[in-house]
Amino acid sequence: MSRQILAGRVAHLGTTVFSEFSALALKHGAMNLGQGFPDFDGPEAVKEAARKAITDGVNQYAPSPGLRELRVAIAEHGARFHGHTGIDPDTMVTVTSGATEAILCVMLGLVDPGDEVVLFEPFYDSYDANVRFIGARARYVPLRPPDGSHATWWFDRDEVRAAFGPRTRLLVLNSPHNPTGKVFTREELEFLGGLCAEHEVKVLSDEVYEHILFGPARHVRPATLPSLAERTLTVSSAGKSFSLTGWKIGWVIAPPALRDAVQRAHQFVTFATASPLQAASAAALRQPDTYFQELGALYSAKRARLLAGLAEAGLKAYAPEGSYFIIADISGRGFADDVAFCRHLVTEVGVAAIPPSVFYSPEHKHLGQGMARFAFCKTEAVLDEAVRRLKAGLARAR
Ligand SMILES: Cc1ncc(COP(=O)(O)O)c(C=O)c1O
Repeated sequence: MSRQILAGRVAHLGTTVFSEFSALALKHGAMNLGQGFPDFDGPEAVKEAARKAITDGVNQYAPSPGLRELRVAIAEHGARFHGHTGIDPDTMVTVTSGATEAILCVMLGLVDPGDEVVLFEPFYDSYDANVRFIGARARYVPLRPPDGSHATWWFDRDEVRAAFGPRTRLLVLNSPHNPTGKVFTREELEFLGGLCAEHEVKVLSDEVYEHILFGPARHVRPATLPSLAERTLTVSSAGKSFSLTGWKIGWVIAPPALRDAVQRAHQFVTFATASPLQAASAAALRQPDTYFQELGALYSAKRARLLAGLAEAGLKAYAPEGSYFIIADISGRGFADDVAFCRHLVTEVGVAAIPPSVFYSPEHKHLGQGMARFAFCKTEAVLDEAVRRLKAGLARAR
């Protein structure tokens, strides 16, 4: 399509890699370990709460900041699981259409054209697109894979320092991290908090995988650290924690002045999001502890299953500390890059994975070209069939 039709802010964007590989997966009857959505449903009690809300007439616009019962549930949930106390549901919470809208509204509310936003790579792809939408500039810091001196994914502190400057307005954090599965430690967050305090930078903390963690990793909510409490906007959503990604109920928690910035944007982006699903999300956040323990156990088993399967198929994989993704090392297998490997996988082997180079800036793309991302939020039957195909197909390619 010609540039005359497309605005500059979208002209550089193609179809997302998820749409491309999901379409290829469908066409080739592949096991789809590409896009990160569960192929199983969320809890019955929560679905029943949604049906009841519709029957009970919770069907008109919610207040723009969100149904109060959900805002209260978000505040209680933060204190219950993360020691995030003192969240005032009336001044510190805005409910959005998924974390996706929350991320956009944080940027719209806080970042001006020409400002800079620091992103860790590989990044969740909407961060970079949103920075461009508002005419800001991203500064990229690569996460490095585990090696002889680092047991987990890590970052070079000098590289982070060098990314901060006089125009930096926002640091985007994502822990547990998609796609590496890294869980940022308290010590790493304290270092980043110090840097943000020094440069008066705000933090967008994307925590959509807050309940998908594998011991001994522990989720530390940045907003609970003294250096970050007053500058952090915590973003999360119901999608991953309750296997209801299609509901698109998300939220932002932030000190009142920062939440006000987000709310100003949100009121003219979507105004409010689906009322009955908000009511049911309040019920979701109030699920008993056993629900969250069972979710953790479910994903631990799936993680172990896919890690073992990838090893049997001869793929070296980095065990994630959280999230439902595994990065495998595909370097040295004779493919030009990760896109070529993933195309081969979906068309010839019958398994869809995502090429991680799309989660890097052009300058660091090469860092993702020796990897592939596999999602394990899938039923055992799908994981087992995917492994069977990988074992057969990759042995053939060897
Ligand atoms: C890191 C990260 N942030 C945000 C989102 C989007 O969340 P939602 O579906 O609530 O908009 C995703 C979804 O995959 C994600 O992986």
